[in-house]
Amino acid sequence: MGQAACLAYHRLAACATLEQSGEQESIVNIVVTGGAGFIGSHLVDRCIEDGHHVVVIDDLSTGLRENVHADATFVEMDIRNRDRLIEVFRREQPQAVFHLAAQMSVRRAVADPVFDAESNVIGGLNVMLASVDVDVDKFVFAATGGAMYGDTEMIPTPEDRAVGAVTPYGVSKRTTELYLHCFQVNEGLRYVSLRYGNVYGPRQNPHGEAGVVAIFTGLMLNGEQPTIYGDGSSTRDYIYVADVVDANMSALNAGDGGIYNVGTGAETRLHDLYLVIKEATGYSGEARFAPERRGELRRSALDITKARRQLGWAPRTELADGIAETVVYWRTQRGKEKGKR
Ligand SMILES: NC(=O)c1ccc[n+]([C@@H]2O[C@H](COP(=O)([O-])OP(=O)(O)OC[C@H]3O[C@@H](n4cnc5c(N)ncnc54)[C@H](O)[C@@H]3O)[C@@H](O)[C@H]2O)c1
Repeated sequence: MGQAACLAYHRLAACATLEQSGEQESIVNIVVTGGAGFIGSHLVDRCIEDGHHVVVIDDLSTGLRENVHADATFVEMDIRNRDRLIEVFRREQPQAVFHLAAQMSVRRAVADPVFDAESNVIGGLNVMLASVDVDVDKFVFAATGGAMYGDTEMIPTPEDRAVGAVTPYGVSKRTTELYLHCFQVNEGLRYVSLRYGNVYGPRQNPHGEAGVVAIFTGLMLNGEQPTIYGDGSSTRDYIYVADVVDANMSALNAGDGGIYNVGTGAETRLHDLYLVIKEATGYSGEARFAPERRGELRRSALDITKARRQLGWAPRTELADGIAETVVYWRTQRGKEKGKR
């Protein structure tokens, strides 16, 4: 049975009984903010596969309407509009909320921290207020690992490491976690915050700055030369999008009030990532090297012991397999584009 079906046990206490009796599982109303985006749209697909009713709230600032599953209800709106958000929540009566809508460009956050705070902090507060208003049972938040911890010697980094966020984006994500704690204490909002590593997979925007996998894949499939900034020894924790979706589904039923890293626990060097993508795409050229960009983390990997123990979650996708899936996706997209011309 889909894990989401056992969510909100006080409302859906019949779950276990249903499972034992083999009857049809209960349908849960779920709101996914940012559900037209890269990660959110995969999460929407999974919720619908599991038989739930899904409402996507997205302003399409970076997301795409075509990413949204045909069976989801789509509401195009900005989460900064609190009154409209409350109206939508009252109409849809969600029992669970996955909050992924955010401005997620670190560079834009540095250039315009007020916009970042308005989208991520005020927008996040609005989603919390609307959730409390209709007595949502579970609120799952998309936070960040790398930008939250900053450069640290403790690799892989556990959740309780003092927050070293040095960008407005990291600060806005951490602030949202603090508000969630407040709302849990004062309003009884049950939440889980998931701090993702570097997520990659199909539908990631290759024009964004976070998606080195999407950028390299796009370039190498076109036979264009990718650029490695620095000597290629900087590391990240690359996690496949389906594993992130699994973590979100696990968080529906476990981990109340908890903060969890969602990564692989492994560091991958940028140059090694490049080699894996080169192999998968069949690119025959070589990468260009350029000076390291200021403000980039040197090393990042997330300790996922807590999520393994308390959420019962673990990543399942090897890097080479996830990259292969991503390359297949982009090849198919390119085929479709060519067919249209
Ligand atoms: N991709 C990663 O590696 C990564 C890592 C850590 C955390 N995250 C977090 O995961 C979440 C999803 O990221 P993603 O990679 O899918 O990015 P994305 O840009 O594809 O998705 C974000 C979605 O939110 C929507 N959105 C943005 N501002 C909005 C607003 N004010 N109102 C309504 N909708 C709005 C966008 O249109 C988009 O569809 C974000 O919160 C991001 O901060 C992502």
